Amino acid sequence: MNHIDEARTIVQDAARHISEQTHDFTPEIGIILGSGLGHLADSVKDPFILPYSQIPGFPDTTVFGHAGRLVLGVLNGRKVILMQGRFHAYEGHSMAVLRRPVEVMDVLGVKKMIVTAATGSANLSLEAGDLLAVTDHLNLSHNSPLRGLHPTQYQGPIYSPRLTQRAIEVAAKIGIPLKKGVYGYVSGPNFETPAEVRMIRKLGGDVVGMSTVPEALTAVYRGIEVLGITYVSNLGSGLSPTPLTHDDIDKTMSIIKPKVVRLLTEIVGIL
Ligand code: HPA
Repeated sequence: MNHIDEARTIVQDAARHISEQTHDFTPEIGIILGSGLGHLADSVKDPFILPYSQIPGFPDTTVFGHAGRLVLGVLNGRKVILMQGRFHAYEGHSMAVLRRPVEVMDVLGVKKMIVTAATGSANLSLEAGDLLAVTDHLNLSHNSPLRGLHPTQYQGPIYSPRLTQRAIEVAAKIGIPLKKGVYGYVSGPNFETPAEVRMIRKLGGDVVGMSTVPEALTAVYRGIEVLGITYVSNLGSGLSPTPLTHDDIDKTMSIIKPKVVRLLTEIVGIL
């Protein structure tokens, strides 16, 4: 078996296992939760909860305190599959592993995906706590999750302008400010240097983070429409007058969390 067939078999096995465990539940919207947003899963009605350790082909843990489970059920009237905890390149996972959850979502029937993430700011006009719809990205990792797959000639937008527009309308309706911005993707795990943040700003990046891009590229490759939502958990390196602490991030996250959870819940209803 070549590596593409091998990976396809792993994805199909995982999807079959999930279908068996959920009595053939067919999610329409996939949501990848960024750090701190785990409790959105508490709003899912009649949830099926599957720890990654029980899903064939999924690494069983994610880094540093991420829960690592799939939650399937109904959120604001829509059938969803949530990833609580995700896989990052900086954990050393292969591209096949980074793609896998999104490929599994595709096999299960997901048509739209919301990918969320905490980021640092690069744009000087952003503040900790700001929410942004991702309009595009800079892949500064010099690697693609599609490596090893058949080349694609796709040149269109990765983040659906249609879904982005809907998200912006919903945010305005419920009074949650939602800006737009370009996501600079770095592979981490180290934060950027101040010079790198300046570079990202010069290249047109508004925020910087270590996720989102592998999942979004995979989704579009598989024909899933993508909405990207990010929240600034901290100012980027070199932009803060005082050194960044865990407390700063915790404080910002406690303000952001309820807003993002409310926004995502509303967005799911109209997607
Ligand atoms: N840099 C990279 N990734 C991040 C940051 C940051 O400042 N904040 C949250 N994720």
